[in-house]
Amino acid sequence: MFNDAKPEYLFETLLVEVADGVAVITLNRPAKRNAMSPQVHQDMTNALEQLRYDDRARCLVITGASDVFCAGMDLKEFFIALKNTPREYERVWRMAVEWRGQTLRHYPKPTIAMINGYCFGGAFSIVEGCDLAMAAEEATFGLSEINFKLFPGGSVSKSLANLLRPRDALWFGMTGRPFDGKTAERIGLVNMAVPRATLREETLQVARELAAKDPHAMAATKQAYYASLDMSWEAAMAYSFAKEQELVVRQGDAWKTEGIGDFLKGKYKPGLESHGVT
Ligand code: COA
Repeated sequence: MFNDAKPEYLFETLLVEVADGVAVITLNRPAKRNAMSPQVHQDMTNALEQLRYDDRARCLVITGASDVFCAGMDLKEFFIALKNTPREYERVWRMAVEWRGQTLRHYPKPTIAMINGYCFGGAFSIVEGCDLAMAAEEATFGLSEINFKLFPGGSVSKSLANLLRPRDALWFGMTGRPFDGKTAERIGLVNMAVPRATLREETLQVARELAAKDPHAMAATKQAYYASLDMSWEAAMAYSFAKEQELVVRQGDAWKTEGIGDFLKGKYKPGLESHGVT
């Protein structure tokens, strides 16, 4: 199925496959439960940069190899191995928080986390950094930091504050109790939990649906939402008005001429179906 990978998508710790408008990035360290080593952060940083400018990739899916999503930060390679090299620790720390908290959040293309199994600690920031998330019902989530005498550090506490209700964030952060995909769905950590057997196909179906939308309108949808979170009403309105003008320039006025135009000609009903990408 994935026969379209570019040769440059060769990474030590990731698999990148592109097909049908969707890039699937797979964390590929199954022997270490896909824990995020410094090399993972480097590879992710590079992969996201390359995919940003690859027109074949209109939607990104992030998942993990071998029925594991990600066991969080690589506790050995990150916290222990870099203990005595503070500058290198700071460099990797910054890279680690930036690709999840900044690059993914402001990525111009839609992103989906596909949580197929274990998802601990730092992996919550991948889930939150993506726009949407789909989980296996059988997946196991956990804010395990408290269990090893830490707190949800790096970007994780910010991710929890962005996404969860206070009671849920503190409940799971303070107890460290593991929970399943259905619970993740109930508390809004993921959009949907489905049986693991159908997770990939159901996620790819959503990804293809997003890939088929107008990419400029999609980017604007994300940007207007995320920017509005941090803005006053006045600033948000000014931003929104400017965004409309930007969209006209980027699309060559397609939302008016084609989107609204074809509706007014009776060609389709946007309430019920999507205009094709031209
Ligand atoms: N960092 C570094 N190495 C990790 C890791 C992590 N977060 N999670 C797992 N590994 C490594 C183990 O050390 C082990 O390595 P080894 O084979 O060289 O000894 C290997 O992955 C397999 O782990 P193991 O514990 O035997 O697998 P399991 O399937 O029985 O259990 C987990 C999987 C994820 C439940 C368990 O490894 C665990 O609790 N990991 C820590 C999770 C965590 O607290 N993450 C938060 C970090 S912010």
